[in-house]
Amino acid sequence: VTAEKGGYEHFMHKEVHEQPKAYQDTMRGRIDESGKKVVLPDFHMTAEQIKNIKNVQIIACGTAYHAGLVGRTVIERLVRIPVETDVASEYRYRSPIVTPETLVIVVSQSGETADTLAALREAQSHGAHVLAITNVVGSSIARDANDVIATLAGPEIAVASTKAYTSQLIAFYLLGLYFAQVRGTQTEEQVAETLAAMQALPEQVEAILAREEEIKGYAEKFSSHDHLFFIGRGLDYAAAQEGSLKLKEISYIHSEAYAAGELKHGTLALIEEGVPVIALATEQALIEKTVSNIKEVKARGGEVLAVCYEEDAKELMKSVDEVVTIPKTLPLLTASLSVVVLQLLAYYASLALGLDVDKPRNLAKSVTVE
Ligand code: AGP
Repeated sequence: VTAEKGGYEHFMHKEVHEQPKAYQDTMRGRIDESGKKVVLPDFHMTAEQIKNIKNVQIIACGTAYHAGLVGRTVIERLVRIPVETDVASEYRYRSPIVTPETLVIVVSQSGETADTLAALREAQSHGAHVLAITNVVGSSIARDANDVIATLAGPEIAVASTKAYTSQLIAFYLLGLYFAQVRGTQTEEQVAETLAAMQALPEQVEAILAREEEIKGYAEKFSSHDHLFFIGRGLDYAAAQEGSLKLKEISYIHSEAYAAGELKHGTLALIEEGVPVIALATEQALIEKTVSNIKEVKARGGEVLAVCYEEDAKELMKSVDEVVTIPKTLPLLTASLSVVVLQLLAYYASLALGLDVDKPRNLAKSVTVE
């Protein structure tokens, strides 16, 4: 069993460590030799079809849905097309407004999730072109979709999804850049700059993994609490939602992810002396706003751990209790790094509580019932 787990105690830990490779494998063959252009050899949509897209709907469940939240921002920022992201079980029954000019993107690690498959069929029945981002190319979702972008994360065994999620983010960056090339919404230089930053991500993830002991220490500290909050703005908020799910799923600690600016509209009432709050503060353009939300939390006695860039750590330390720093990347790519810290926090909290990390109670790896 240890051999199967590559010397790691748990599949989840192994899979967290496989992320640098999963990023590389998902990018391989999709960036041309000059490093300046995205090529998607297996993609069927024609340039004309891509130019005709009026709106995008991203549909998925759980962690894949959280990848879709990042995907929304990526496509909106790069391509300036309106994008909505919905959970599959809601989408299907809300009589979605889909036209032949709607691109529907379904995201699924397993490619077998019943809710996502049903949403795919619903969208196709309205004439939409459906693109699947999936980790299993022979899956039902891959078979039924009109187009597939495979994430090449390798088999994911742990119930808690890690490398599949981060590979889905890579797929969204590639897709967003590809559409931007076709529609001319980014210059060649901008595309090249983003691709260069993407290629630096695997090494940057390694740098985070090298700091595991420090992250483990923070996880052990908060693991005795019953409630915890994650806050952030923009892409930090999207990453916060994934961090919160990961923690709930394997540590059974109740947590909520809040848009930092939304706290004061209700949730702040729950912050009292000693409540742990994990604040993601990498969105540079919004950092001052996030800091003012952190101060609201501190004033009520919350214990704040911030995830931020090295260059902001000194300033943030004036307002928070502890910081975990991550290497600097482009604003668009930040979730690919910050989430790794959150995965490790969840993993070590579960471990500290002596729980079954790979097989949490009540959950299945692939949910094939509606
Ligand atoms: C992730 O940690 C969860 N186990 C779960 O939310 C999962 O992402 C969801 O069930 C969707 O699965 P899929 O990606 O295989 O469709």
